[in-house]
Amino acid sequence: MEPVKAAIVGLGWWGRKMTQLVQSRSDRLQFIRAVEPDPAGRDFAATEGIPLSTSLDDVLTDSDVEAVILATPHRLHGEQIAAAAAAGKHIFCEKPLALTKAEAEKAVELCRSKSLVLGMGHERRFEPPMADLLAKAAAGELGRLLQVEANFSHDRFMTLAKDNWRLDPEQAPAAGMTATGIHVTDLSVQLMGPAKDVRVICESLASDMVQGDTLSAHVHFVGGGSAYIAPTLATPFYSRFAVFGTEGWIDIRDKAHVEAPDGWIVTRGMKDMPIETTDVPAAEPVLDNLNAFATAVRGEAPYPITGEDMVNNIALLEAIVLSAKSGMVETVK
Ligand SMILES: NC(=O)c1ccc[n+]([C@@H]2O[C@H](COP(=O)([O-])OP(=O)(O)OC[C@H]3O[C@@H](n4cnc5c(N)ncnc54)[C@H](O)[C@@H]3O)[C@@H](O)[C@H]2O)c1
Repeated sequence: MEPVKAAIVGLGWWGRKMTQLVQSRSDRLQFIRAVEPDPAGRDFAATEGIPLSTSLDDVLTDSDVEAVILATPHRLHGEQIAAAAAAGKHIFCEKPLALTKAEAEKAVELCRSKSLVLGMGHERRFEPPMADLLAKAAAGELGRLLQVEANFSHDRFMTLAKDNWRLDPEQAPAAGMTATGIHVTDLSVQLMGPAKDVRVICESLASDMVQGDTLSAHVHFVGGGSAYIAPTLATPFYSRFAVFGTEGWIDIRDKAHVEAPDGWIVTRGMKDMPIETTDVPAAEPVLDNLNAFATAVRGEAPYPITGEDMVNNIALLEAIVLSAKSGMVETVK
């Protein structure tokens, strides 16, 4: 297929990671323009050979640009999606899509009404052992799903400058929820369906982060079943996702952060079978997600993360943020 011509918007930590992967390894997506207002982006864009603009409008008026990849601070996602959709560009947005269910619905509806593909930076769905877990669950091989247990934590924000947007409680509320927790709520709603309510304990135990550095959320789903989710910002990298069903359970541990994947350790216990542990080699789920987006733009396969899942995920995030502040059980709207 002809590669989709796209603009990368935001050349910070994640925009650079995506650019390096796409430019060197994708045969489905190509970045022909970049947007970054900070002068620090100039050298990087020049090294990658990508023409740089300081304003999103420049690329939205370029008829060669078919899609935009948004790797910008959270507060910009809503307005940039609206502008890109108005210009008829397909959109891949880094997580979180929004901070409220209403904003998420608006973004999904804007893209749907214009037949634009909306991709999301939820690459964990593309990790080979996670894709296998999701497929087995969907095929009923794990039986009735009962519970999810997930912890996705790191401490790399502990040393950020105090004025970094990632420490702004308005843009990044509820400890690590918008950094890491949002990936495991995405997986949880895909497995368990929409959430009903949640109770959160959120504290600052190791820093002066206003939004807390240590969080656990206990989610109850509309269809029954629960999830325990812990995205903490004050412990070294740890990532474990486990799902339990009546026919079996699967536990996946990442050996490294997806920034530099190093493979997974998967432990599985199926009914009446011995427990098995497998080492799964490294892969590049960030690239696989972007390629799936491009494939959907070309109409060759639907993008696997549905608008319904995106809205269910942000509805749960909104309730987690409320409960992080109130300490009470909060209903998911
Ligand atoms: N999927 C993942 O695993 C993953 C990992 C890390 C970050 N992210 C997401 O990527 C996004 C960016 O995070 P980051 O860590 O790269 O942040 P960052 O601060 O390192 O980079 C953001 C960049 O956006 C630029 N920017 C600001 N305003 C802009 C504008 N109007 N137009 C274009 N660029 C603008 C900033 O100058 C900065 O260079 C966030 O949504 C974050 O949650 C996703």
